[in-house]
Order: sequence, then structure tokens, then C-alpha cells
Amino acid sequence: MIYKTNWIKALGILSLLLLLFFVARYWYIYSEVQALKAPRFEQGLHKGALFCAECHREIYDEWSKRSLHALATAGKSFNDYLALFKTSFILNTFITDAACYSCHGEKTSTEGVNCEICHGVVVENIPIMETHKLKYKPGLQLLREEGFCIKCHELRSPLTLDGILTVPDEWRNSQSAAKGETCQVCHMRKGINGLSYHGFDTAHHDESIYIDDVKIQNAKLEFPRFSLEIENRITGHAIPPSGPTRVMVLEVIFLDVEGNEQYRLEEIFSKKFELMPLAGIFPNKLIKNTQLQSGERRLLNLTLPESLEGKINDAVATLRFYGVSDEYQGDIQKAHWISEPILREEFTLSSQVPD
Ligand code: HEC
Ligand code: HEC
Ligand code: HEC
Ligand code: HEC
Ligand code: HEC
Repeated sequence: MIYKTNWIKALGILSLLLLLFFVARYWYIYSEVQALKAPRFEQGLHKGALFCAECHREIYDEWSKRSLHALATAGKSFNDYLALFKTSFILNTFITDAACYSCHGEKTSTEGVNCEICHGVVVENIPIMETHKLKYKPGLQLLREEGFCIKCHELRSPLTLDGILTVPDEWRNSQSAAKGETCQVCHMRKGINGLSYHGFDTAHHDESIYIDDVKIQNAKLEFPRFSLEIENRITGHAIPPSGPTRVMVLEVIFLDVEGNEQYRLEEIFSKKFELMPLAGIFPNKLIKNTQLQSGERRLLNLTLPESLEGKINDAVATLRFYGVSDEYQGDIQKAHWISEPILREEFTLSSQVPD
């Protein structure tokens, strides 16, 4: 009899502990999700970017023609991914699209991250220059801190806490951070007009911005082994930066004496995640990261097929970026954009002269 009640007691305590554990876990995830949904900017009625353009034309042109901020809610990739998200039961029910608009801009606007998202909305019924005095002038100092960019450029999985958008961590571990160089120092340097650049260039629009940021050198062939060194010279963060949507591919084409292609191989630099259980499209657990970290120099050792012995004379190495939506996890066949080459190097392998 006594044994039986002890057994029942133990079972009772165990169930209570289990229940507590699940409540705590649920509560934790719930608060993470709530934080994810909270907008990172001031809410209110927007006048829209064209209103600011009346007096700030140059900044408007840079923002609208070059910056992906201007496509953050109108872009095809955003809307395609959002549509999938909305049909994923778990995501739509618990996380909801509020989590997307909390960083990408207002749900009711197609302007994405526009002037007022960053600078604050215009105060209704007072002259615009009053808004400047109240908000834009005093607010400018805050906008110069890295924390201002980080509030939208950092994202973790609410389940595993693994970093999805990780530019801030990459930056914190870099030489730039040690020197006190903020995001704005590199991304918003002042032009000859004295204005802070608002184009936020990426390889998407202009591959030339990577000139000198990546280096490929010391290609060596000791058949069947081929090696080469690749270096990230951006002192501020990884290449490709941030999350799984940015994939960098190194393609090496091997040529014979006549310059005919004999073989090609690809090396992929990206982050790979296991997707969220029962939801299928949201990155959850980091399983592989081959991004080149800030300042990293990596030696790649590759093996060529035996059949190529004596046939290889030169190699041509090309680097490109691919934009790949999260649900495809680095599958470049499914890329929604491909950049022009950001780098192209030719190596003569037979003579073994380092570049
Ligand atoms: C009627 C013209 C006009 C419009 C419209 C206008 N601005 Fe300005 N803005 C100015 C002028 C003039 C200055 C420079 C004022 C100064 O230096 O005090 C300025 C300066 C600024 C500054 C810098 C403040 C500083 O401390 O140097 C910011 C930020 C700014 N504007 C943002 C905006 C935004 C955002 C909008 C749209 C919501 C906007 N402006 C619309 C005329 C305008
Ligand atoms: C309100 C949120 C928000 C703020 C604040 C913000 N960004 Fe962004 N940023 C975004 C979003 C969202 C995107 C992605 C747009 C897209 O492609 O749909 C983006 C894209 C970018 C890109 C292009 C990324 C790419 O992969 O091509 C750069 C560069 C960038 N931001 C830099 C900055 C810097 C520097 C700051 C601080 C001065 C900043 N951002 C502030 C939300 C923000
Ligand atoms: C914490 C802020 C944040 C949240 C929340 C967020 N994003 Fe983003 N998103 C960004 C930033 C920043 C980028 C730029 C790419 C990078 O840094 O890797 C981006 C990039 C993207 C891209 C790639 C754009 C391209 O052209 O390649 C898509 C698509 C996207 N987001 C859709 C969504 C959707 C849909 C949601 C909601 C489920 C969402 N995002 C939630 C900040 C956010
Ligand atoms: C992603 C956030 C972001 C967006 C979007 C944005 N700005 Fe800015 N803006 C900044 C930051 C940050 C600074 C301060 C840069 C510094 O001083 O380092 C700034 C500075 C300014 C200034 C002060 C003068 C200068 O060039 O330094 C003006 C004016 C301005 N922005 C107008 C605009 C207008 C107009 C738009 C829309 C067309 C716009 N901004 C969109 C972040 C943004
Ligand atoms: C030392 C300079 C430097 C610093 C500091 C820096 N970046 Fe960058 N960043 C670059 C360069 C160079 C690139 C690649 C080319 C480009 O897009 O401008 C880049 C790329 C990016 C991209 C992706 C662009 C793409 O092609 O997909 C994002 C997003 C970004 N940076 C955001 C930030 C944020 C947020 C910070 C601050 C936490 C920051 N960066 C700090 C230099 C810097």
C-alpha cells in the first residue's frame, strides 16, 4: 500500500515538473516571438519618400535607384517568401506577418524601409521644418550609432537562438569594431556633395564595390591536388555577409594548352540551416557555415580526377554572388538573382609562378 502511494506521489511530482518545464519553454518561445513581432521603428502616417524628395532630391535618388531598402516590401523575393510563409501553418498562426513588417517596413506601404522608417514620421499639422527641429536634427546623433542598424540587421531563430542574420556579430568580432568604425562609416560615407550616401550598395547592383575586398592567390597544381588561397579583406564582416540568402560561389575552370575547357569545379561559401519543424521555410538550426570571416585567409585543397593528368595548363577563377531564398538553403539552381563576377583571376599552372 505504502509503495503504491509513494509511486503515485513520484509520478505526480514528475508530471508537475514536466508541466513546469513545458510552460517555461512555451513562455520563453512566446516572448521571443513577441519581440520578433514588435516594430523596430516609430509607427504613424507616412508622407512618403517623394515628399522628402522635394527638398532632398539627391538622397532620394540614391535610396530609390540603388538601395535594397527601397525594395524591402515591394520586391518580388520578399513577396514570394511572404506568400509561402502565410501558407505555413505554424509560422502564420504563431509568428504572423507582423514579424516580417517589423523590419521590412509598414504593411500598408510599398516603399519598404523609407525615409520616415529611419528618420521618424512627420508630425501632422505642423510645418515640416518644425518636424526637423523636433526630430530630425536631434535624432541624427542616434542614427549614427551602429545600434541603429543592428536593430533590424540581427535575427535569431526563436527556437534555437542560432543566428540567422549575423552581420552584427561578424562586425563585433572584426578589426573595424575594435577601431570604433561603425556600419555608417563604411556604408554611408559622405560624398563630394557633403551628404551621407544613401544607396547602401551591394553586389546586387554594383559588383565593383568588392574590388580589393576579396583576393584569390597562390594557385598551385601538384597533380591531382589543386590548391588556392582566398582571403576576405573587408575589415568589418564576413563574405558573404549575414544570412542564408547570400551565397558566394568560386568557380574554377581548368584549361588545356589550347585554352579548351577540360574541367570545372565549384566551391560554395554560405550558411546552411535545418528548417523549422512543421513550418518548413524558416531557418532554425545552423548546420554548416563556410562564410569567410572578416580578415580570414583560407587555403582550399581540391582534388582533380585522374583522367586529367598532363592535360591542365591554366585555371580561371571567378567569384559571384547568388541570391537564394531561405527555403532552398543555398541551392544556387534556385537563385533569384546572380551578380556579375566580382573577381576574375587567371593562373598559369604549368610554370607554377605565383601571382
Ligand atoms: C521643404 C523642404 C524640406 C522637406 C520637404 C524635407 N526637408 Fe529635410 N531638410 C530641409 C532643409 C532645408 C534641411 C537643412 C536644415 C538645417 O540644416 O537645419 C534639412 C535637413 C534634414 C535632415 C538633417 C538634419 C540635420 O541635423 O542636419 C534630415 C535628417 C532631414 N532633413 C530629413 C527629412 C525627411 C526624412 C524628410 C521627409 C519626411 C524631409 N527631411 C523633408 C528641408 C526639407
Ligand atoms: C527598419 C529596419 C532597418 C534599418 C534601421 C536598417 N536596415 Fe538595412 N535593411 C533592412 C532590410 C529589411 C533589408 C533587406 C531589404 C530586401 O532586400 O528586401 C536591408 C538591407 C540592407 C543592405 C543590403 C543587404 C543585401 O543583402 O543586399 C545593406 C547594405 C543595409 N541594409 C545596410 C544598413 C545600414 C548600414 C543601416 C544603418 C545605417 C541599416 N541598413 C539600417 C532593414 C533595415
Ligand atoms: C530582424 C529583421 C528582419 C525580420 C524579422 C525579417 N527580415 Fe527579411 N531581411 C532582413 C534583412 C536585414 C535582410 C537583408 C539580407 C541579410 O542581411 O542577410 C533581409 C532579407 C530578406 C529577403 C531576401 C531579399 C533578397 O532579395 O534576396 C527576403 C525574401 C526576406 N528578407 C523576407 C522576409 C520575410 C517574408 C520575413 C517574415 C517571415 C522577414 N524577411 C523577416 C531583416 C528582417
Ligand atoms: C536605412 C535608414 C535610412 C534611410 C532609409 C534613410 N536615411 Fe537618411 N540618414 C540615415 C542615417 C544613419 C544618417 C546619418 C548618417 C551619418 O551622419 O553618419 C542619415 C542622414 C540623413 C540626412 C542628413 C544629411 C546627411 O546627408 O548626412 C538627410 C537630409 C537624410 N538622411 C535624408 C533622408 C531622406 C530624404 C531619405 C529618403 C529618401 C532617407 N534619409 C532615408 C539613415 C537613413
Ligand atoms: C569596414 C567597412 C564595413 C563595416 C564597418 C560594415 N560593413 Fe557592411 N559591408 C562592407 C562591404 C565592403 C560590403 C560588401 C559590399 C557592399 O555591399 O558594400 C558589405 C556588405 C554588407 C551587407 C550585405 C550586402 C550584400 O551584398 O549582400 C550588409 C547587410 C551589411 N554590409 C550591413 C552592415 C551592418 C549592419 C554593419 C554594422 C554592424 C556593417 N555592414 C559594417 C563594409 C563594411
